[in-house]
Amino acid sequence: MQSDVVHHHRTGCVGFLIIDYPPVNVLGAVVRSGLASALEWALADDEVRAIVVACAGKTFSAGADINEFDAPMVEPSLQSVFAAIEAATKPVIAALHGTALGGGLELALACHYRVALADAKLGLPEITLGVIPGAGGTQRLPRIIGAAAALDMIVSGAPVDGAKAHSLGLIDAVIEGDLLQGAQRFSERLVEQGAKPRPTRERPVDSTGFDAAGIAAVLSKHSRALKGRTTQQLIVDAVTAATLPGFDVGLSVERNLADFSITTTESKALRHQFFAERQVARVPGVPPDALKAPIARVAVIGAGTMGSGIATACADAGVAVTLIDSTAAGLERGLSLIASNYDSSVARGRLTAEAAAQRRARIADSLDLKAAANADVVIEAVFEDLALKQHILGQVASLTPASTLLASNTSSLSIAELARPCRDPQRVVGLHFFSPAHVMRLLEIVRTESTDPMALGKALAVAKLLRKIGVVAGDAFGFIGNKMMLDGYWREAELLMLEGASPEQVDAAMESFGFAMGPARVNDLGGTDVGTKTRIELFKRESRPDPYFVIADALTAMNRLGQKTNAGFYRYEPGDRKALPDDAVTQLIMDLASKRGIPRRGIYPAEIVERCILQLINVGAQVLESGVAVRAADIDVVWVHGYGFPRHLGGPMFYADSLGLKRVLERIEHYQSRVKSEYWRPSALLVSLATKGQSFAQWDSESTSA
Ligand code: COA
Repeated sequence: MQSDVVHHHRTGCVGFLIIDYPPVNVLGAVVRSGLASALEWALADDEVRAIVVACAGKTFSAGADINEFDAPMVEPSLQSVFAAIEAATKPVIAALHGTALGGGLELALACHYRVALADAKLGLPEITLGVIPGAGGTQRLPRIIGAAAALDMIVSGAPVDGAKAHSLGLIDAVIEGDLLQGAQRFSERLVEQGAKPRPTRERPVDSTGFDAAGIAAVLSKHSRALKGRTTQQLIVDAVTAATLPGFDVGLSVERNLADFSITTTESKALRHQFFAERQVARVPGVPPDALKAPIARVAVIGAGTMGSGIATACADAGVAVTLIDSTAAGLERGLSLIASNYDSSVARGRLTAEAAAQRRARIADSLDLKAAANADVVIEAVFEDLALKQHILGQVASLTPASTLLASNTSSLSIAELARPCRDPQRVVGLHFFSPAHVMRLLEIVRTESTDPMALGKALAVAKLLRKIGVVAGDAFGFIGNKMMLDGYWREAELLMLEGASPEQVDAAMESFGFAMGPARVNDLGGTDVGTKTRIELFKRESRPDPYFVIADALTAMNRLGQKTNAGFYRYEPGDRKALPDDAVTQLIMDLASKRGIPRRGIYPAEIVERCILQLINVGAQVLESGVAVRAADIDVVWVHGYGFPRHLGGPMFYADSLGLKRVLERIEHYQSRVKSEYWRPSALLVSLATKGQSFAQWDSESTSA
């Protein structure tokens, strides 16, 4: 009997087993049992001399079903199905297209031969989910490409394309044209040659280069991505087991290590991010069809750094874009910025000259606002000036049909205010791009009370089109990310400096927690004046009690703007980015503290980390209770992708859950009584969840399933 999700048929002497389980052919229980019965059919049919395993749809299998990780695997297990394939008495050939990832690639490794399209991507990305391949990947890959290359591939988690896979010996042939026809020809040749099954388990492991020095070299090559991580050590142990005698022993070592990896908080955090990144696009009230709005042309108004970056992001994603500026000089500056970015990508070998030229050709330019008239989406990215932005949006609204999405790129202004002069404010949203706009994946999509759900859907479609992660935020002070950074994390970091921690102590503590850069160094990189200007605009919406960024604002007033003036929180030697402590800053901070009667003392790194992170969590809870964020998981996505929160800790709200909200509340109350600042008042939502023994994750599932 044919399975619903694994079809089989025979063409000539070749039996085809086709997994057809959209969207990405994950190897869930139904697929595993379907595959097992299809294999039985192929082995029983005497006409079948070779067996091809392939997938329907856009991709080969994307692996095990991540949703099944936390429960014991329903039989038949991947291991048993793969063992049956490997033991098959007829040659089994995997035919790969799209992305053969994780369990998908492990399925291919259990086959006797592999062929793939040139643009197929083959990889074991389990490390990105904090787990190790658990269906034979760590034992079979070393037998096919050697232990050292296997370690590198599994630790990197990055896929290789068909050509690279061929050169590694991972696949036996690259197929040109139709995959199934190519696989058929390949299989027929094997049959003609009398080729036998070639069980991977029986192949010897090449251990060349897999010694202490080789292992250390691989770990050091990936050390940036592995900061704070532990999964790589489990991978080393598993691949080491592959180099020792006994395939089945190796498999059971792998099984134990894989089972353990799934239980780690690191893995739970990374899986949380995986699903959170995909869930952000599902916004209650927004019909899924709205996300399918066709977007053929974008217009970007303002050719400054942000506008040019947004235009580049469009061109990179294959979207036609018109960059508009009111002055020829402004436009010229923007276009040359774009050109020099592309030139440097070509010089670094990231892009071919042809690809760069193709992308640049997608960017038209104009000095006339009317050029925006035929765009599906207009993104205004001029200076942070309310009147100017209002004027432009008002004009664009009258030039374009009601179906055109109007967006303002702002980090501080009220979108409702900006939309006021438009005849139809319901089609206006904020699109808060992060700098550099063509690199950073996060996009905050700001809706107002009057934003139409269809317009919001179109904004989410823009994010997807530009390959960004669009997170919906309410139109409030700092939206999601900046509100938490300003009211929570960075403000507390400044308070710690006033109380006695030096900028370098604060930075070192937060970097040891896992942020790539501490707050003082980030300030110096971006420019202290940028923050000051943002806060001036934000204060027009709401004020904040002192002390609130008194150090950063004093530095701006002293023209210590950061790296660009060789002085900010640190000092810099001309032409050198190394941050050096500066006595003048110590003195400034002492003066600011004494003016406020703040006593100074030595502060341990643990207190610095705890206070900054608790603040992040507490303000995050306020953002959630006020409805500015739809879900706690959305906040986690914002902080991981926009602000450098370590991904393997899941984001601030997941991290809070992993500490336990009761404990989080106790520590906040502890600091509330000690620091005596109103910034330490616990959020009502946090109090309520902690008291009920609940988590942010529970709040998410209850509030979005209602
Ligand atoms: N298990 C469970 N669900 C999975 C999955 C997996 N291994 N891989 C993808 N999905 C789901 C996604 O959550 C998404 O679900 P949704 O539509 O309900 O949000 C859907 O499949 C489509 O995935 P998406 O990532 O949106 O599609 P894409 O075309 O952009 O990317 C992949 C496709 C395969 C590249 C990407 O999904 C991916 O990297 N998957 C994970 C692969 C992996 O790590 N496998 C190892 C596990 S052993």
